[in-house]
Amino acid sequence: MKILVKKGNLAEIKAEAIILGLFEENKKLFGLSYDVDAKSQGLISELISSGDFEGKESQLSVIYTRGLIPAKRIAVVGLGKAKEFKLDKLRAAYAKVTRHLRDINIKEAATALDFNMLPGQKDKLTQAALEGAVLGLYQYTPFKTVDRDNIKDIKQLELITNNEDYPLLGDIAKRTSIITEAVYFVRDLVSAPANEMTPSILAQKARDVARRKTVNCNVLDKAAMKKLGMNALLGVASGSAQEPKFIILEYSGGKKGRAPIVLVGKGLTFDSGGISIKPAEKMDEMKTDMSGGAAVIGAIMAASDLRLPLNVVGLIPATENMPSGTALKPGDILKSYSGKTIEIVNTDAEGRLILADALSYASKFKPQAIIDIATLTGACVIALGDDVTGMLGTDEKLKSEINDAAQRTGELVWELPLWDFYSEQIKSDIADYKNSGGRAAGTITAAAFLSKFIGDFPWVHLDIAGPSWLDKDKPYIPKGASGVPMRLLVDFLINRTKK
Ligand code: BES
Ligand code: MN
Ligand code: ZN
Repeated sequence: MKILVKKGNLAEIKAEAIILGLFEENKKLFGLSYDVDAKSQGLISELISSGDFEGKESQLSVIYTRGLIPAKRIAVVGLGKAKEFKLDKLRAAYAKVTRHLRDINIKEAATALDFNMLPGQKDKLTQAALEGAVLGLYQYTPFKTVDRDNIKDIKQLELITNNEDYPLLGDIAKRTSIITEAVYFVRDLVSAPANEMTPSILAQKARDVARRKTVNCNVLDKAAMKKLGMNALLGVASGSAQEPKFIILEYSGGKKGRAPIVLVGKGLTFDSGGISIKPAEKMDEMKTDMSGGAAVIGAIMAASDLRLPLNVVGLIPATENMPSGTALKPGDILKSYSGKTIEIVNTDAEGRLILADALSYASKFKPQAIIDIATLTGACVIALGDDVTGMLGTDEKLKSEINDAAQRTGELVWELPLWDFYSEQIKSDIADYKNSGGRAAGTITAAAFLSKFIGDFPWVHLDIAGPSWLDKDKPYIPKGASGVPMRLLVDFLINRTKK
């Protein structure tokens, strides 16, 4: 959907539908809604006085204007109680409206925002509303061939504004389009089936992103990895017929020589579990085990399109985890890129193996911070549920920056502890470490394992096993790939540029 910013007055705009958000305290209309109401001979106040619309969160009514104003319909959506207002409720409300309008086959709509909702925050309000409107409409359709004409889509949303706000809203619309396009890109990568999203194809997607002037992509093949001694990654790949790829994406928007932020994303294009094979039920969902890698590629794409003045490196170890005669076996010992040895006790704990090599490789860049993103443990879903990312790390400042970004974007994180004694669980009798610490504190011992491969740099690990893929619709995330935590990463990067 295209977003256009136009000068004008919502009550005087010709459109298939205009969208208006209303709080519960709407007995006395003011601002935009007062204006639309007055010009339409009281259509909104009639809706409210009839008791049909109270303004409850995401409550929706469509009024037909019968020529009283140029717009054919007024879609009013509830924003809940003004006192309890949050940006995420605005995202949800706008998603609810645009999805309904799409369902009734509307192709274009217009909206405007009452900025006294959150005084002094025009930019945040606008971005949240537009994000909601766009993100809720996502559909993954490349493999639908029957009745393609029935796929509905809103083509255009006009944001109506006065002269004074016009330049600001233009900037926000641009920024939001960049971010939502990156979310769509991430969701597309994650939704793609594993036969269409192999390590080689993922690497090609990264190369496509690097067509931008400020982005560079370098892909290490198997031979290059062998030379470097990335045996943990190669071990995981050894059961697969697909060649592994180590993807290095560099965005240079900052001063030359300025320490980059390194983002490391797990790029398991299919996780069968390997010889420690997973049960058949839901194994298909393991095509999403490259969600972390996809989020990293998306974040670099957005950072470049937003021209952020900083340097970012993305590292995505990409492989399948498959059982076969050449596959890694429980009991095998691997010498990782760092030189440290790892005893494999469970071939299904493969994510931490490929991340181990990528995290040690990150030291090469002398980064100002390392953030890794991975669908790492089922235990994280047990601990925090489907909607929350697990956060662990060693650097308090970095953790609090990430938590702030999480609050702003609605992509929630919750910290789990990473006390030293958890490392006891991953000690091996005959190697330096073993790759599983058992069921107890599974998310934490996975992070403890990763911590052994971090040099002396601020580091945070984000376990997105829960929120990367949804079984049911959320307000502005249709079920399936969420794109989490790409918006969080971009928000974090934007705020790093302010320091
Ligand atoms: N990719 C999985 C984790 C996962 C599970 C992601 C469910 C999304 C949804 C990971 O590779 C894995 O299999 N982890 C094991 C670790 C265990 C063997 C120590 C797990 O969580 O069971
Ligand atoms: Mn696994
Ligand atoms: Zn996995």
